Amino acid sequence: MGSRTAQVSEMKVFDTFKPEQDALDRAQAALDSDQADKDLREEFANLVASYQKLFKTSRRLVRMSDRSEERLKDANIRIKTQQQQLEKAHQQLARHAENLEDKVRERTKDLVAAQGKLEKLVELGIALSAERNHTRFIEMMLRGAKDLTFADGGLLFTRGETDELEIQMLGIDSIDLHLGGSTGKKVQIEPLKLHDPDTGRPDYFNLVCHTSLTERTVNVPNMTQSRDFDFSWFDELGKRFEFQPQSCLAVPLRPHKGDVIGVLVLLNARHRITGHTVPFGDEITQYIEALASQAAVSMDNQHLLRAQDRLLDSIIKLVATAIDEKSPYTGGHCERVPELGSLLAKAACEAEEGVFAEFDMNDDEWREFHIAGWLHDCGKVTTPEYVVDKATKLETLYNRIHEIRMRFEVKLRDYTIEHLEKRLADGSDEQALKAELDDRIKQLQDDFAFIAKCNLGGEFMDESLTERLQAIAKTTWMRHFDDTLGLSDEEQRRLRRRTRPKLPAKAMLLEDRPEHLVKRVRPIPEEKYARLGIKMETPKYLYNYGEVYNLSIARGTLTDEERYKINEHVINSILMLEQLPFPKHMARIPEFAGGHHETMNGSGYPRRLNKQQMSIQARILAVADIFEALTASDRPYKTPKTLSEAIRIMNFMRKDEHIDGELFDLFLNSGVYRSYAERYLKPDQLDAVDIGEYLNATSE
Ligand SMILES: [Fe+2]
Ligand SMILES: [Fe+2]
Repeated sequence: MGSRTAQVSEMKVFDTFKPEQDALDRAQAALDSDQADKDLREEFANLVASYQKLFKTSRRLVRMSDRSEERLKDANIRIKTQQQQLEKAHQQLARHAENLEDKVRERTKDLVAAQGKLEKLVELGIALSAERNHTRFIEMMLRGAKDLTFADGGLLFTRGETDELEIQMLGIDSIDLHLGGSTGKKVQIEPLKLHDPDTGRPDYFNLVCHTSLTERTVNVPNMTQSRDFDFSWFDELGKRFEFQPQSCLAVPLRPHKGDVIGVLVLLNARHRITGHTVPFGDEITQYIEALASQAAVSMDNQHLLRAQDRLLDSIIKLVATAIDEKSPYTGGHCERVPELGSLLAKAACEAEEGVFAEFDMNDDEWREFHIAGWLHDCGKVTTPEYVVDKATKLETLYNRIHEIRMRFEVKLRDYTIEHLEKRLADGSDEQALKAELDDRIKQLQDDFAFIAKCNLGGEFMDESLTERLQAIAKTTWMRHFDDTLGLSDEEQRRLRRRTRPKLPAKAMLLEDRPEHLVKRVRPIPEEKYARLGIKMETPKYLYNYGEVYNLSIARGTLTDEERYKINEHVINSILMLEQLPFPKHMARIPEFAGGHHETMNGSGYPRRLNKQQMSIQARILAVADIFEALTASDRPYKTPKTLSEAIRIMNFMRKDEHIDGELFDLFLNSGVYRSYAERYLKPDQLDAVDIGEYLNATSE
């Protein structure tokens, strides 16, 4: 190619300088002829030589120019070729960039979809872990799994203590079939047996059983074509509810490192655009497995929590029953107060107007209230039965009236002996002596009858009665025996406080002796009382068994010390409940339980709280506590009040600001008083009550 270009170039140069060449040739020929002058020829020859030199140079220059032009042309061609290649490369690059963009766009779309699913999964996980209601939980889980997979149907099986998978919920959207859960419609499908009851062989053929037994997820793209399992159970389900199960995803519910507790089955995944049934994608399986795992952990936790709650409830009821069993005088009280309290609290929650319109309780608050009701008197475990049940003034562990009566017996015999001695010494006025003895015996009988009556505590001890008691007490008799023998260490310790008279010693019929005073073994933890706001005055002695002291009790049969001991039960309830590590949602139990002896005007105990300082729940328990005590029909030696009597007494208590008037109105208006009475009172207690009479009293 190069040489051909050179030849062409040479020819081109030759053509260009042809006239000059011809002239040179002609000049040379002239020179070579003989006619030319020598000098001229020489000069002409020089000229021709220089012209030839110039011509050569010019020709070389022209050739060079031609070659440059060729090269330029070649260069242009190369540039063009390169430009074309560049353009091609550019186009390829553009196409590549376009493809890349499409891919990035597609990938971004996938990522967004995956992120959406992940977000949904996380949201669902959070919602599931927060849901403590079992029914709502399984509904939420099934709905979430269906949404994630775009499935038409879903079934949830759980495995209980037996070798069966019980179907808890079933939902097929396309035929609007929803059973179990909060639908109120029972599933009514026989549970699946994991093993053959006769042979004990595991049932690997049923898809659901297989999933549970192998603890592995099973994805069946099309049940109508698959031969991997026996789908007759699904066929029957389809026939029964008129739908066609096709694609299926069965995932075991297995808490971390635990046994399978159920199986989640999703049916008929749908195409997002066409809505046609399609197989479940492999990528979605991971999400459902993650959801199932999380749900299984939550379900297992719920199961444990329920078991714990049941255990706690049983322990609480055990304590309440023990308290009720401790004394026949309060039997059944701890069981009935929470019942009545719940009826009243429910009425308050349901009130749509008035002071309770805003009042409501969630599940946790109901539980808190129930436990408070059951444990409101738990402090009674510390109260001695003989104090709670003290039926006569002289009663300690037994009724000491017999001891007193024996002294009267002794005294009677002393009088008789004295009479006989007088007769022996001076029998002059036998009749007068007999009359004196008769008078004395009669007096003794009267006095004992009086003392015995005082002992019953049915009558108010006014000044005159107290004076008579004290006069009788001073009657003396002779004690010949050492009263320090046969005593326990504790009695001996108390006896050290008094001087021992020589025997025989004068003794009185009724005495308040130093050993009757029982000191408190453990001092009152005053700072604890102050911290808890307890404002009850504590008597100096734990007990005072003084005979005159006890028989002088103005009303009832209890001394101040014993009254305090009984009332102290509510302090102990508070102290005991405050010590329990209740979780946050049960933190108000001590307040609810500890307020049942408070009154609306602040005269109650142990904190002297008023209405504003008490929660509604505490006020409800206070009403329930009183009404139960008034109407209880299982207390010995006590006639229960009829319904109308109890309501009348409570109305007085409302007027005295003892109980909450608004709750009393609610108690009557809502009919709680009657529904409780019909359930717990005896038929003869159920008399008519005109509640209008009491409701009018509210507006007075
Ligand atoms: Fe109480
Ligand atoms: Fe009570």
